Amino acid sequence: MGRGHIATGRRRGQTVTDGRAAVQASQTLHTPVLLQETMAWLQPRPGGLYIDGTVGMGGHAEAILERSSPDGRLLAIDRDPQALDLAQQRLAAFGDRVVFERARFDAMAEAAARHGFAAFRACCWTWGSRRCS
Ligand SMILES: C[S@@+](CC[C@H](N)C(=O)[O-])C[C@H]1O[C@@H](n2cnc3c(N)ncnc32)[C@H](O)[C@@H]1O
Repeated sequence: MGRGHIATGRRRGQTVTDGRAAVQASQTLHTPVLLQETMAWLQPRPGGLYIDGTVGMGGHAEAILERSSPDGRLLAIDRDPQALDLAQQRLAAFGDRVVFERARFDAMAEAAARHGFAAFRACCWTWGSRRCS
């Protein structure tokens, strides 16, 4: 059973091109908000199962995977295939510790069951906001 969720977020608009340049651009332009606070709440630890319901550019996911090393696992969900592709590139080094699913986060329970994450320890999602001026 998950212990709760954190809703944090801000999304900066950008044009995604392709490949490594896109990943580098995303990492430069997109800084996950409240990263330290989110990690303090989630307390990732080895062996834990985690879900990021809006993996986006993968910043929170990367921090969860680093802190739950060597065997914590993450289910990375996003509805946007382009975001999911960038996250896959960013998180490739974590190998099979991370599973990707294109879905809306309201399908999280079904995706968690299908991928063996039903007993997840914590999850987060970030739907973000945007400054218009
Ligand atoms: C602010 S970004 C997430 C940032 C991410 N936590 C990080 O560390 O980079 C928001 C993401 O939420 C995704 N998103 C928005 N609504 C969604 C929904 N209903 N289900 C799944 N993903 C959604 C968007 O596609 C976008 O990639």
